[in-house]
Amino acid sequence: MTDLIITKENQGVFTIILNRLDKKNALNNIMYKELGLHLNYAKNNDNIHCVLIHGDKNCFCAGNDLQDFIECSQDDSLAALDFIRILNAFNKPIVAAVAGATIGIGTTLLLHCDMVIAANNTKFKLPFTQLGLCPEAGSTLLLTRLIGQNRAFELLVLGNVFNAEQAKEYGIVNQVCQPNELLSIAEKTALAIASLPSDAVMTSRKLIRQATKSSLAQVIENEGDEFSRLVKTDACKEIMSMFFKR
Ligand code: COA
Repeated sequence: MTDLIITKENQGVFTIILNRLDKKNALNNIMYKELGLHLNYAKNNDNIHCVLIHGDKNCFCAGNDLQDFIECSQDDSLAALDFIRILNAFNKPIVAAVAGATIGIGTTLLLHCDMVIAANNTKFKLPFTQLGLCPEAGSTLLLTRLIGQNRAFELLVLGNVFNAEQAKEYGIVNQVCQPNELLSIAEKTALAIASLPSDAVMTSRKLIRQATKSSLAQVIENEGDEFSRLVKTDACKEIMSMFFKR
C-alpha cells in the first residue's frame, strides 16, 4: 500500500482518505487498486459498520488521472472499472465528505454512497464528453433517476459546473456546510450510522437499493422477507424488550 490512500479505523468506522493533494487527488491506477482492496477489507471485516471517504476541506477528487488515461493502450483494462464494480457490490453504508474539486468519478462515485456531506466550496463537474468520453459508474442510470433526463443531459453531456447547494437540490448531497466543519460533521454522521444495529442497517440499505430496481410488489415481498427475518433475531428482540423495561 502507498500513502496516496490513508485509512484508519475507529468505533466501527473505516475511514479512507484520498491523499494525493499535489495532484488534486486525481485517482491513478495504483489508487483505484488500493481503494478496491480497502473496500474488500471493509466488506469482510465484521467490526466495520460504515465507511467514510474524504479528501481534505478544499479538495475531494479531480477525477481520473488524465495521464493514466493518456498512457492507456488498447489491451489495458481500466483500473477505474474494476473499482466501480467493487464499489457497486459493496454492502455497507458509505458516507462521503466532499470539497473543492469534485470531478468526473469524484462525482459519480457519490451516486453509490449513502450520505454525502459537501463543503460550500465544492465544485462538481462531469466533463466526460468534453474529454471525448461518456459517463461512467452507472451515472446515466443513477443521475437520470435522481434528476430526470433533461437535467442529466445538462450535467453529463454539457458538463456544466454545479455547486453544493445545487447538488443538494438534485439529491446528490445530504448536507452543505462550511469547509472547516466538513470532516467533523462527516465523522459524526459515520459514527451515528456505525452505532446502529448493523444487520438492520445493512439490510435496510440493501432494500433501498433493491427497491429502485424492482417493482413495488416485489419490494413489498423483499421488505416482508427481511422484516420477518429481522424481527426474529435476538438483537431485535433485545431492543424491543427494552421498551417494556423503561
Ligand atoms: N489528472 C492528472 N493530474 C491532475 C488532474 C487529473 N485529473 N487534475 C489535476 N491534476 C494535477 C495538475 O496537472 C497539477 O499538477 P502539477 O502541479 O504537477 O502541474 C496539479 O494537479 C494541480 O492542478 P491545477 O490544475 O494546477 O490546479 P487548479 O486548482 O488550477 O485546478 C482542477 C484544479 C481540478 C479544476 C483542474 O486541475 C482540472 O480541471 N483537472 C482536470 C479534471 C478532469 O478533467 N478530470 C477527469 C475527469 S474524467
